[in-house]
Amino acid sequence: MRIFSGIQPTGAIHIGNYAGAIQNWVRLQDEHECIFCICDYHALTTVNDGERLRRQVADAALDLLACGLDVHKCRLFVQSQVPEHTELAWILSCCASIGELNRMTQFKEKSERSEFVNAGLFTYPILMAADILLYKAELVPVGEDQLQHLEVARVFARHFNNVFGQTFPEPQSRLTAATRVMALNDPSKKMSKSIPGSTIMLTDSDEVIRRQIKKAVTDVGGAGETMSPGVANLFNLLKIFSTPETVAFFEEQYKEGALRYGDLKKTLGDDIAAKLSVIRERRQELAKDPGLVEDMLVDSAKQVRCLARQTLDEVREKVGYSPLKSC
Ligand code: AMP
Ligand code: TRP
Repeated sequence: MRIFSGIQPTGAIHIGNYAGAIQNWVRLQDEHECIFCICDYHALTTVNDGERLRRQVADAALDLLACGLDVHKCRLFVQSQVPEHTELAWILSCCASIGELNRMTQFKEKSERSEFVNAGLFTYPILMAADILLYKAELVPVGEDQLQHLEVARVFARHFNNVFGQTFPEPQSRLTAATRVMALNDPSKKMSKSIPGSTIMLTDSDEVIRRQIKKAVTDVGGAGETMSPGVANLFNLLKIFSTPETVAFFEEQYKEGALRYGDLKKTLGDDIAAKLSVIRERRQELAKDPGLVEDMLVDSAKQVRCLARQTLDEVREKVGYSPLKSC
């Protein structure tokens, strides 16, 4: 079973990204054939500063490798090194209906936030479908917010298959157990870089991590029958960063009505700090040798590009283009 997933190089990564995406990737690389992509074509929909984009791509590579992706086990490459992604995206755009694209909630949200709404933002799900279908991937680990994009990827694949003959498997999503990490200061919203004070970044110091957890919103109003969203979020984080024994211990305390938020926060802060400090050290080591990281990315790109070319040869033939003769 081939797995594909991508992440936008949008700067520093927070523990929501880690829990919702990367941690899952690290596990999957041991079990399946995995292709992971740093999506810098996608990033152009929001970043328009070349130097910044270059830096963010390098940072994303360091983050992912530091979190445990291993190029001996999986492929990790930069999207723009495999221009076939855009070639397939064009072809798929002719199988995609504007009606489908109009339904995308992420487009609605993003376009409301910006004055200049570029077309790339609108056709983003087509490029995302191309990413996946180019490798005929069957499984796509993502966070909840990407499920709608995956659903339309299946629709586009089906449409292509119906018109031009069976070519693409319909990719299925795979959610992580800890799907949504909520904002620490407002547990009704998803943890996000765009909400100040809501995150813990992978690069945050132990002190900042502990402070952020200490400040996290717990109860709003009195103790009710159901767990408040803030406390549920802390338990969710505990499941990601602490041992099962620790989780069981605090769950028991909660059930007995004896849970002290201060204790929970102290343990959680310490456990997150411990985990992230390992990642931080590994990152510093990798950052000392940018040439090595670059080699890893290029090597992966070369390997996946062969697969991408095979798919495009088949697709070009089916839609009626001649094989590439110009190179
Ligand atoms: P983004 O940085 O928003 O492009 O997200 C990168 C990846 O992290 C995607 O797979 C998202 O689904 C996931 N992700 C982002 N924010 C969160 C969050 N607060 N909780 C869980 N997963 C998230
Ligand atoms: N759109 C995804 C996000 O913002 C990133 C992404 C791009 C992706 N291409 C992909 C994820 C293909 C899964 C598969 O998080």
